[in-house]
Amino acid sequence: MAVTVPEPIAAFLDTPTPDAWIDEAAGRIPDLLLDHANCELKAASTALGFLYRYPDRTALAQRMSRLAREELRHFEQVRKIMDEMDVPFERLTASRYAGGLRDAARSEEPYKLMDMLLIGALIEARSCERFAKVASRLPARLEKFYAGLLASEARHFEHYLNFAREETGVDADEFDRRLDELKAIEAKLISDPDPQFRFHSGTPAP
Ligand SMILES: [Fe+2]
Ligand SMILES: [Fe+2]
Repeated sequence: MAVTVPEPIAAFLDTPTPDAWIDEAAGRIPDLLLDHANCELKAASTALGFLYRYPDRTALAQRMSRLAREELRHFEQVRKIMDEMDVPFERLTASRYAGGLRDAARSEEPYKLMDMLLIGALIEARSCERFAKVASRLPARLEKFYAGLLASEARHFEHYLNFAREETGVDADEFDRRLDELKAIEAKLISDPDPQFRFHSGTPAP
């Protein structure tokens, strides 16, 4: 089964995942699944965070509520596969990737909301790209699971990006400028040498 990165995602991400990360992931399936499960849980919690912080933004709040449910379903699915493969679940500390992106978000509104939504779009896009790239290197059952997940992460990417454009009232020039800045930060996080292997880690380094 050939799994390809959806075109809008490939066009959005200027920097592809390093091949060395894909090789590493293919050889470390239990670690990949454990971090993946943690990421789904964090994705659900991030979506709920938008609900708590912006309850008066109805379209955003309703979408984030659905998104949280979808991410929790992904979490349940990964956990089931982990159980079947005898991979124990544990909570992992925050990754360099998540921390690095979170630190880049500005603190005043509406820039805070805009940055958090753009960061959401970047994380969903990268997750989709990595699911697509690693899928064909995994056993058939996981390949099928990851190929199924990438379609929903591509949808999440579109939602985050559209909300970043529409909810914050920031003009198009500022939007493009900030998106380029955050893309550069994200590209560095997934490319720079990284001693810790995670779903969103950089180039494997000893
Ligand atoms: Fe997910
Ligand atoms: Fe997602």
